[in-house]
Amino acid sequence: MSQPTSAPEIARGLRGVVLDTTSTCHIDGEAGKLYYRGYSIHDLAEYSTFEEVTYLLLYGRLPRRDELEEMDRRLRQSRSVPAPVLDVLRVVQKAHPMDALRTGVSALAAFDPETADTSLEATLRKAERLIAQVPTLVAAHDRIRRGLEPVPPREDLSHAANFLYMLHGREPDAEAVDAIDMDFILHAEHGSNASAFAARVTVSTGSDIHSAIVSAIGTLKGPLHGGAAEAVMHMVEEIGDPSRVDEYIQRMLAEGRRIMGMGHRVYRVEDPRARHMRERARALGERLGQPKWYQILERIAELTAPLRSRGISLNVDFYAGSVYYLLGIPEDLFIPMFAIGRMPGWCAHVLEQMQDNVLIRPLLQYSGPIDLEYVPIDQR
Ligand code: CMC
Repeated sequence: MSQPTSAPEIARGLRGVVLDTTSTCHIDGEAGKLYYRGYSIHDLAEYSTFEEVTYLLLYGRLPRRDELEEMDRRLRQSRSVPAPVLDVLRVVQKAHPMDALRTGVSALAAFDPETADTSLEATLRKAERLIAQVPTLVAAHDRIRRGLEPVPPREDLSHAANFLYMLHGREPDAEAVDAIDMDFILHAEHGSNASAFAARVTVSTGSDIHSAIVSAIGTLKGPLHGGAAEAVMHMVEEIGDPSRVDEYIQRMLAEGRRIMGMGHRVYRVEDPRARHMRERARALGERLGQPKWYQILERIAELTAPLRSRGISLNVDFYAGSVYYLLGIPEDLFIPMFAIGRMPGWCAHVLEQMQDNVLIRPLLQYSGPIDLEYVPIDQR
């Protein structure tokens, strides 16, 4: 068996590879800092709204009030999805919500008036429509699988409030809206993460934004990316009571198992998004008379302190699951929640890739045999 002689350096998982330049997002993993288009995530989490962050990511700067109102009006008017797309969701009602969402976005491509137009202008219009429609798909599929009729979107509610309204069929309270708006802001963008990379690869071939979002949704689904919040909540429920944390976590650490909601490819210190979710998890737990979930999380954080010296710290999803849980969001909707929040980031990457496109096509070093003799099938 002959092997290639010269072995190029392989960056497994593309670790450390700088793909291109970007103006969407800057992450300083050593210092634990995150900026969307130059603005600190802490300022955006405290002062902004998901709609304003959407404008910032799509258009590259903070909007004037009239610009924000105009884009928000377009988003509100684009929330409905065509009836045949709801029928598709009925057909796949037993599927995991992420599979249903991926199918739903794919089906939307068949009805969007500009699907085949890959100009920047049309892609921006489609991006706004998709950002507006994705929450409707998630909520409608959840209603359908519970044997309920989808709740039509309302134009008088914010993005976060309308999503909760469509999901639960009643107007949410201000604290729930605030927590979900914050969650969407924190998840809106995060550089060349696996799903944004998948979206960029897709449009780098000249393909369209619906296809890119389908790729991104499929990529987000995995437990190492979007699935962590769900996995954290499973762990917390399995522990069940603060008195049982020590035994559970010490066993996991002794067995060398991964603790979900910790570690990150980029951050060596605590993910700057985590602190905002921590505060929401604490406040919501107290208000709803269920402080134990937060207590369990805080004890897990304490017990895993030794991992910090290896650069394994809390990430955004460590607390996100408990916030969703307290707001009555089913566990298998946690990844779709992430997708709703990440939509503006994915769209910004699609637009950026299209603006100065180059086909993304890395190499693999071949490690198999060559020049094997082809043996006819009945002689093998
Ligand atoms: N718990 C315990 N050990 C860990 C963890 C963890 N959560 N994460 C990494 N490690 C260890 C890992 O076992 C390995 O140890 P060793 O060198 O002894 O084999 C070392 O740290 C490096 O791990 P890696 O998997 O090579 O590093 P990576 O940069 O590829 O991992 C990660 C990043 C997110 C996949 C990983 O930290 C992980 O699996 N975390 C748990 C899942 C999670 O919370 N994901 C959500 C990320 S935040 C949301 C998002 O942006 O997608």
